[in-house]
Amino acid sequence: MKVEVNTFYIGDELKLKEILLTGYAYCRNYLQTSSWISILKDYLLLVFTYRLLNFATFQLKVFGLRGSLGNLYRSITSSFFKWLLRSSLMKSSVDVEVNKATRSIERDLIKNDASLKDFEELPAVGLSEKTVLEELDLMDSILPHTEWKRGRVSGAVYHGGDELVHLQSLAFEKFCVANQLHPDVFPAVRKMEAEVVSMTLNLFNAPKDTGCGTTSSGGTESLLLACLSAKMYAYHHRGVTEPEMIIPVTAHAGFDKAGYYFGIKIHHARLDPVTFKVDLKQVKKFINKNTVLLVGSAPNFPHGIVDDIQGLSDLALRYKIPLHVDCCLGSFIVAFMSKAGFKDLAPFDFRVPGVTSISCDTHKYGFAPKGSSVIMYRNNDLRMHQYYVSTDWTGGLYGSPTLAGSRPGALVVGCWATMISMGQKCYIDSCKEIVNASRKLKATIQRDIPDLRVLGDPICSVVSFTSDRYDVYELGDKLAKRGWHLSSLQKPPALHLAITKPSASSIDELIETLKELVSEARKDPDSKPSSDGTSALYGVAGSVKTTGVADRLIVGFLDTLFKLKPADS
Ligand SMILES: Cc1ncc(COP(=O)(O)O)c(C=O)c1O
Repeated sequence: MKVEVNTFYIGDELKLKEILLTGYAYCRNYLQTSSWISILKDYLLLVFTYRLLNFATFQLKVFGLRGSLGNLYRSITSSFFKWLLRSSLMKSSVDVEVNKATRSIERDLIKNDASLKDFEELPAVGLSEKTVLEELDLMDSILPHTEWKRGRVSGAVYHGGDELVHLQSLAFEKFCVANQLHPDVFPAVRKMEAEVVSMTLNLFNAPKDTGCGTTSSGGTESLLLACLSAKMYAYHHRGVTEPEMIIPVTAHAGFDKAGYYFGIKIHHARLDPVTFKVDLKQVKKFINKNTVLLVGSAPNFPHGIVDDIQGLSDLALRYKIPLHVDCCLGSFIVAFMSKAGFKDLAPFDFRVPGVTSISCDTHKYGFAPKGSSVIMYRNNDLRMHQYYVSTDWTGGLYGSPTLAGSRPGALVVGCWATMISMGQKCYIDSCKEIVNASRKLKATIQRDIPDLRVLGDPICSVVSFTSDRYDVYELGDKLAKRGWHLSSLQKPPALHLAITKPSASSIDELIETLKELVSEARKDPDSKPSSDGTSALYGVAGSVKTTGVADRLIVGFLDTLFKLKPADS
């Protein structure tokens, strides 16, 4: 037996030697007889074929044969459609439509009045304090903001009460000039910032000995930092040079922005059709050697659903990949739900072992002034990878913990003042008020308005609903005419309300208005559900028919933010 094995081994070795020698001779001959251009061509073909095969195998693994063919079909039709819209055949009529829509966006957004002074250029001599204040009052009365105080706007203003705003203004005045870039100049601000981070870490059950974090300017910056840290961490610890992230399709667009900024490839995992939580089976299939981060939301922006964080954590631990939980929106709602008596929220924070980072917006349900969020990490090795350090700069040694250089210290002081003035008791009370209102809206729609369908089973502060009978965007428009500004969602078309303290107290009015509008729609024989091709502009209520040209309209919308006058004025 032993001899046979040896004979086989020796025979095999000889065969291998023969193959290697033949291969070597072939390569030598190939290199000697080919021009360097044809060698380069062959090399590129080889790389292309390798990448194509890799891509095809990955697609088949994740989506199966039918899904991959579906993806291919969608990608071809979308490219064809884009080409068609830009072709000479369609371009001019598309341009006319886009310009028309852009003009209408401009007319809606650019508001002015003859009684207001215009400052297209810096005044040669500054105005007196009295004049500036008068102008501010005039602006406030002539161009008033939407009536968010009556609670008719989804999210946007997470108002903690007039007294809190007064306190924040006083805090702002005291520390108006502070800049955290210079902790030696502003030691009090440094102390307050460290305490904001520490209080938030504590609420999210970070490990006492290793938990750490930084503040940031808002949810998007916190997400960018989490992704940057994951990318750099994987680069330094695993040598990953082509980073990829796996995020639910419902994860905030800030993750895609991070992919765009930092060159991270994003895989969007679909949802379970019943629970609307991310499909863990698909997340697992997306995992590969380049994966640097898994993501879950608690809850997500579109539907207010909390992903299965424990399930994501199991995957994260099994494959040794960091897991970020986006609690930007959940913020101090999810942090206080258990203490407020809502026991149906499964663990989502650092108590779940695979969770390595969490973002929490203190400027949402923390009621701090806008421009404040906290990004937290399980340990300092993760946090360190979001830092920027330069030792060679002619300006001196430079280190910056977040994306900005100079940072507005007054905002962190406003956040600190808010947190210590609210204390646990006020946060628990506001959590009860908001979550109860959200659950009332959900239960009423489910029980009394069968023409609307709540997406998934939201348990926090956001409720979104669609309709299989009516156009929900039209419903959104009608609500807007009655002063209610809900956000429009897509895939599927839906409306959503992020309930705040002001909207919690007017939830009964919203319920009545919804009932009325739906019973009106029932009388309309032409009512039909919104088509899936219709997109919705993030944060803008109402119907926006943007099939195929959404990107151009968004650019038009963004340009409008910086225009002094509408183009046709
Ligand atoms: C779940 C979630 N993450 C991140 C963000 C981004 O926050 P910000 O708008 O403060 O950048 C939001 C905003 O609504 C959100 O809902």
